[in-house]
Amino acid sequence: MTIAVLPEMPAAAGELSVWPASTRPLPHGGLAVGGVPLTEIAERFGTPVYVLDEGEVRGRCRTYRDAFPDADVLYAAKAFLSRAMVRWVEEEGLGLGVCSAGELELAVTTGFPPERIVLHGNAKSLHDLEAALRLGVGRIVIDSPSEIARIAAAVGPGGRQKVMVRVVPGVSAGGHDKIRTGREDQKFGLSLTDGGAQHAVTRILGQPRLELTGLHCHIGSQISEVKPYLVALRRMIGLMARIRDTHGVVLPELDMGGGHGIAYQPGEPALDLTAFARRMRTELVDGCAAAGLPVPRLAVEPGRAVVGPAGVALYRVLAVKHTGENVFVAVDGGMSDNPRPALYGVRYAPRLVGRHSPAAPRTATVVGRHCEAGDILASDVQLPGDIHPGDLLAVPVAGAYLLSMASGYNLVGRPAVVAVHEGTARLLVRRETLEDHRRRDIGV
Ligand code: LLP
Repeated sequence: MTIAVLPEMPAAAGELSVWPASTRPLPHGGLAVGGVPLTEIAERFGTPVYVLDEGEVRGRCRTYRDAFPDADVLYAAKAFLSRAMVRWVEEEGLGLGVCSAGELELAVTTGFPPERIVLHGNAKSLHDLEAALRLGVGRIVIDSPSEIARIAAAVGPGGRQKVMVRVVPGVSAGGHDKIRTGREDQKFGLSLTDGGAQHAVTRILGQPRLELTGLHCHIGSQISEVKPYLVALRRMIGLMARIRDTHGVVLPELDMGGGHGIAYQPGEPALDLTAFARRMRTELVDGCAAAGLPVPRLAVEPGRAVVGPAGVALYRVLAVKHTGENVFVAVDGGMSDNPRPALYGVRYAPRLVGRHSPAAPRTATVVGRHCEAGDILASDVQLPGDIHPGDLLAVPVAGAYLLSMASGYNLVGRPAVVAVHEGTARLLVRRETLEDHRRRDIGV
């Protein structure tokens, strides 16, 4: 079905700075994304619903490709994955980072070339490894010593699997403690400082069924500064030089992970991709020259920065409660489709759409429908004073780590995903229904 685009209104540019580039204000408080009015999406597909702007995702993939012409750009599937997303990423020439047999199978069965896929994970099950080997995944990133023998055994005699080693470079960066993965006191990777990484490299090089193609690190997520990446890069080059000195082996690849920060609200800092790409390239070339190493093929693994700003969550207001000084605006979703405010204290900027309100704004807390007081989607936000049940709220920057982290809490059911592109809306993932729950629940 094609929905006609309504005439455009002058854009309130600053306010919409974190929205997809295709976002256009419409008369009477409306908003269109990808040429489709959000009110029409809510009416046609119901709420809560996640809207994904295909053009924004593709545009972001292209921006990465342009910024890194001589590097591999691997989209981190954990941020959001669906078959359409797999296709867009494939068509735009990116690779894919996955961390389970589930993500891997979805990608490969959608036609993604397995050799362009990297498998991560601090604890890979036998099922994950078997799927990776059966489907012919490009690289497996080894994250703990015990994996070396397990992967070699699973490869079997005569086989050979390309692997990398995940290194902890000892760098602390990231938007929240729970997503800082470059320092020693967390579960991922093998340490540079205690010799764990070097020891793993020695064992892998002695294992004929494994081909060590390079080193990997991922220092954290939602990082808006270039500097921590440069520090990590220098340390990784240092380790590559030590491996060359000890083993006479020059590793051809270096994967610096993802974590590129984005703004969730107007005015928040984001990683400057152009500066990041330029400074990483310079650091890599200079560092390798100083160490007497050939420049390895660089890889980066953005997830959030590819899909986050392309998504908008739409909720219907179910209840408005004035309690003392507080105004609670309760919507038909909540922590089951967006656990991020509760987990990381992320602040979203919801906005009323589809109605122009003459009322002055007032401070409100947008809460979900789940059975706990911590089910808050956005606290201390400015919403029109006359907000009432039936109103539609839209939350921008909802494309990454919302649906992929959605739960079955309270059997509310996970929302649908709708793609918008050039004035057309289409369903990508249908809403989870009671029938889905019933079908899985097979005991009596
Ligand atoms: N590569 C590896 C090995 C990763 O573990 C991750 C994310 C990425 C790449 C992509 O990072 P990104 O560019 O998306 O920041 N649930 C958290 C984020 C967890 C990130 C986990 N690893 C959140 O909602 O903020």
